[in-house]
Amino acid sequence: MQKIISLAKRRGFIFPSSEIYGGFSSCYDFGPLGIELVENIKRSWWNRFVRSRPDMVGISTTIIMSPKVWQASGHVSGFSDPLIECKECHARHRGDNLLSESQWKKLEKKLEKAKDKEKLIALSLPSCPDCKKKNYTLPRNFNLMFKTFVGPVEDETSTAYLRPETAQGMFVNFNNIISSSRKTLPFGIAQIGKAFRNEITPKNYIFRTREFEQMEIEYFIPEPKNEKEWQKTFDYWRKEMWQWIDFLGIKRKNVKENDIPKEELAHYSKRTIDFEYKFPFGTKELYGLAYRTDFDLKNHEKMSKENMKYRDPKTGKEYWPHVIEPTFGVERTVLALLVDAFDEEKMEDGTTRTVLRFSPAIAPIKVAILPLLQNKPEIVKKAKEIEKAILPFFSCDYDQSGSIGKRYRRQDEAGTPICLTVDFETLKDNTVTLRDRDTMHQRRVDIGSLKEEITKIINKD
Ligand code: GAP
Repeated sequence: MQKIISLAKRRGFIFPSSEIYGGFSSCYDFGPLGIELVENIKRSWWNRFVRSRPDMVGISTTIIMSPKVWQASGHVSGFSDPLIECKECHARHRGDNLLSESQWKKLEKKLEKAKDKEKLIALSLPSCPDCKKKNYTLPRNFNLMFKTFVGPVEDETSTAYLRPETAQGMFVNFNNIISSSRKTLPFGIAQIGKAFRNEITPKNYIFRTREFEQMEIEYFIPEPKNEKEWQKTFDYWRKEMWQWIDFLGIKRKNVKENDIPKEELAHYSKRTIDFEYKFPFGTKELYGLAYRTDFDLKNHEKMSKENMKYRDPKTGKEYWPHVIEPTFGVERTVLALLVDAFDEEKMEDGTTRTVLRFSPAIAPIKVAILPLLQNKPEIVKKAKEIEKAILPFFSCDYDQSGSIGKRYRRQDEAGTPICLTVDFETLKDNTVTLRDRDTMHQRRVDIGSLKEEITKIINKD
């Protein structure tokens, strides 16, 4: 992780937030390369799951919504983690992180009946990971939603929350979507946007942060008559999620499914599969796929008194549609991509070449333009002309500082699939050299066919 964190900072992927003030509470900023990567991920996701599908519409809803939304969704009462404090060093821990999740659930059950709860905690938990002593408080449920106040008065009646998931924006707009887009079941609503959770222990770099971005789909299906009916759509989305992982270029061997046991399911879910990635700090959730039943629409109807049912245009029957939810975290996608693409290659001369082997389709820079003799004005002029010609089509980086070897290394670390060099031959025969990041193989191509050649390389996967 240390190598990846330092490369991400050095090359401008990820910076600690507010760094000049010593950083802030597990918050991170995306630098110039990071934001290009993020934009490529989000644009590809949107094109794949929204634009190119007749059964999907997009939406963008507010971060601050009516607090009633979060009462109906169960987040006010149930979106919490068990907080335990070490009485010795005052470190705060998530109880279910000190044990496995299933061990914690069992302990919670025992605690309900136990006479001496403190003794049971002392016997069941390992020592404090920070001070190695064992003297804990009893666990209490800590709600993960960030609270704020809307308007000038800070009291109970003006309390609002920053959304902990984008999903609810899709549910509360269900009727608006039906009446404005005239979609019929099955269809989905998709959204990309920020979510906030006041995590007790944000950790592992950008893996668990308090502010992050989600790409979510709520896919509405007719009320299933039996298990098989919802499972069919569930399996369909499961395959779609694997294909998205393939598209990103993340190796399948590094991802596994975890069918969440019933007792660990979120309050809204009848079945959830986590797609877990083999991160250097452990195999952990990358994405999730959940069958949310009709939980959300039903509860919003109860709370709002608005009819949230779907009327079948053929039969006239009214019912709450059921929902399959594929959900993807943007930051976790970035982290998995960095980990998966990171490679250190031993060179013949004994040096090591660090490369990010991104799939060309999502690489932040597609082409680096490198004039070979940067002190020759006619070569620099030609290189700038080429940059101007291809910049409208591909993200480019123009670099004329340092030796060509150093410039190649910088681009390898940025994951740039193509390095284009301009030399004296260019001036004679209008050709340039294209160097492949992975093989380091170089070949000459005519400037006239550059757009076609680069497009071929970028779309080759
Ligand atoms: N609407 C369902 C939902 O929010 P979730 O599993 O709690 O489900 C969905 O979150 C995805 O959001 C996760 O799979 C993960 O990629 C991302 N995510 C959740 N909490 C996160 C955090 N604290 N930091 C970064 N990403 C997070």
